[in-house]
Amino acid sequence: MSKDIQVSFTLNGKPVTYTVAPHTSLLRMLRNNYNYDVKCGCEEGDCGTCTVLVNGESMKSCITLAAQVEGANIVTTKGLTYGTDEIGHMIQRAFVECGSIQCGFCTPGMVMAAKEYIDDGGIADRKAIRKAISGNLCRCTGYVKIVDAIYRVAKDLGREVR
Ligand code: FES
Ligand code: FES
Repeated sequence: MSKDIQVSFTLNGKPVTYTVAPHTSLLRMLRNNYNYDVKCGCEEGDCGTCTVLVNGESMKSCITLAAQVEGANIVTTKGLTYGTDEIGHMIQRAFVECGSIQCGFCTPGMVMAAKEYIDDGGIADRKAIRKAISGNLCRCTGYVKIVDAIYRVAKDLGREVR
């Protein structure tokens, strides 16, 4: 049997070290250590609900090995809710105000995909927004209200297409 490994990284601004079996996914490592804001859906890379930001890039944590995030900076929805990042707060507010949450199952992953889009300078363009969230599945909303929320954030940041 392979020996457990230690993985050290920054999680929502705080340094953490977790001990895991070498084949453990990032998703399992996070959830096994009580980070339940990271949702588990298909666990096969299809649904996107497990999406987190790794060094600013959205990644599906179920198909990322824990060992790959050694030294990385990881942000989850908890980091956006309790952190001081204004964009994160704007996205979460917009999701609530635009009625973008029904069962809520896809929401953490959608919020993280939105965060990457806006952080990368994403504009208020529905087609571009749909592309940005194309790796995230929602079975309830028809996507319209989710796109509306991200559009609103981009618009509020003055990124309207003229
Ligand atoms: S749980 Fe990771 S993509 Fe579905
Ligand atoms: S709100 Fe239910 S899956 Fe998206």
